[in-house]
Amino acid sequence: MPYRDLREFIARVDAFGALRRVAGADPYHEIGAITEVAAGMADCPALLFDHAKGYPAGFRIFSNAVTSPQRAALALGIDPMLRPLDALKAWMAKRAGLARRKPVEVANPAFMENSHIGNDVDLARFPAPVWHRADGGAYIGSGSLVVMRDPDSGWINASIYRVQVHARNRVTIQFDHSGRHGAIIARKYWESGKACPVAVVSGEDPALFVAGFEYLPAGASEYEFAGAIKDAPIEICPGAITGLPLPARAEIILEGHLLPFPENSLPEGPFGEFTGYFAADQRPCPVMEVAAVHHRDDPILLGSPPMKPPRFHFGLPLRAAGIWSNLEAAGVTDVAGVWQHVSQLMTVVALRQRYDGHAKRAALIAAANSYMGRLVVVVDDDVDPSDLADVMWAVTTRCEPSEQTDILRNAWSSALDPRIPPEAKARGVTSHSKLIIEAVKPFAWIDRFPKLSALSHDDARVVEKKWGKILKGGA
Ligand SMILES: Cc1cc2nc3c(=O)[nH]c(=O)nc-3n(C[C@H](O)[C@H](O)[C@H](O)COP(=O)(O)O)c2cc1C
Repeated sequence: MPYRDLREFIARVDAFGALRRVAGADPYHEIGAITEVAAGMADCPALLFDHAKGYPAGFRIFSNAVTSPQRAALALGIDPMLRPLDALKAWMAKRAGLARRKPVEVANPAFMENSHIGNDVDLARFPAPVWHRADGGAYIGSGSLVVMRDPDSGWINASIYRVQVHARNRVTIQFDHSGRHGAIIARKYWESGKACPVAVVSGEDPALFVAGFEYLPAGASEYEFAGAIKDAPIEICPGAITGLPLPARAEIILEGHLLPFPENSLPEGPFGEFTGYFAADQRPCPVMEVAAVHHRDDPILLGSPPMKPPRFHFGLPLRAAGIWSNLEAAGVTDVAGVWQHVSQLMTVVALRQRYDGHAKRAALIAAANSYMGRLVVVVDDDVDPSDLADVMWAVTTRCEPSEQTDILRNAWSSALDPRIPPEAKARGVTSHSKLIIEAVKPFAWIDRFPKLSALSHDDARVVEKKWGKILKGGA
């Protein structure tokens, strides 16, 4: 049975022994700091904060939700006991064949257990954290789903954009660039002089969190994608203010309008980024006037602050699954695995080389699709791409830099890139160069490459199976 909502997901995480409960932490920086320290621990526990400093018990925050491979697999409906690379492969295959599930409308949604409208709206009721010490303010949405309706086609877009609290009934919604679907939809309303109906869902089903992060094409429904992940439809109910279909079992929902921009704007951020820096300054951002706040009893805010790598929102590198599919769709055979390290800033492809140029062909496709990634490495199929030590062993023993590296210029990065010089950024530069490292045995003399003395992964698994208990100190 799939988990039905965030609460059931948390119960499953607890059953795995991966949940820690924290009482009394300060939303000003301490909840963020605890989240970052926990995310850096070997077992990377999920955290449920309650009774935050200055707030009554019952207003909760859940962080590090899917930051371990096991919890990411759980969210994706994949066997959580699989090794991480096998889990990503299973997700890649599942994702390629997903049968979309239409959402179903229900009456009496859980989010209407409490509803505050108009003058009764007060966002200060929620312990929205200041996640990093130098953040520009408190964020009620760091992993929040923003729901909008395209005025032309009626298509519902639901994507993850961050949401900063500015006043009792005012928040900003941050689109990284004007190509974001949310930005495109909002502009259509603004161009006809209207405010854009919008809802912010903070505390959504983890499958919606994944769907909201996916690069789905315009017109595609994140609700249907999330339903397909779970093989069960997402339950929805129209919002009282906007009429937008809202996830019925969500924890906290803000309804209102995004006011025409740039006539209305507020300075947003800065906000600590997933690179571990503040590389984008405070920027003018569209303002949402919040007309209503609905929430479940004892609501749970889903927090997913960006943190210094290797900590990342997802314990499995979901974008690597997309690159793996791209390679297969382009006809690149024998891909053994794709992984991303350093919070998706480094992409590794493992393949069994069949012909001269095979590795470079894969590298170019991976590089083209590596957002902000300066480093693309190709390794042979006896190297585990998810194991950074294994990858560096290949880099230092199989790659002759004078022959097996290339630099691609003016490639895909973003304003969040800390290494683009300030003058270039001011001119609107959002590209960088990418280094390709072919850490593979040179194809021309692959048969004469020195034989491995190291144990193969397969042999190691046989040993683990037979002797693992004793090696771990058991009988
Ligand atoms: C935790 C988290 C926070 C994010 N924050 C933002 C954000 O503030 N602004 C943004 O434009 N994209 C953000 N993203 C990335 C988008 O959700 C992602 O690129 C998505 O595919 C955009 O959807 P769209 O193509 O429908 O616009 C975030 C992703 C995650 C997982």
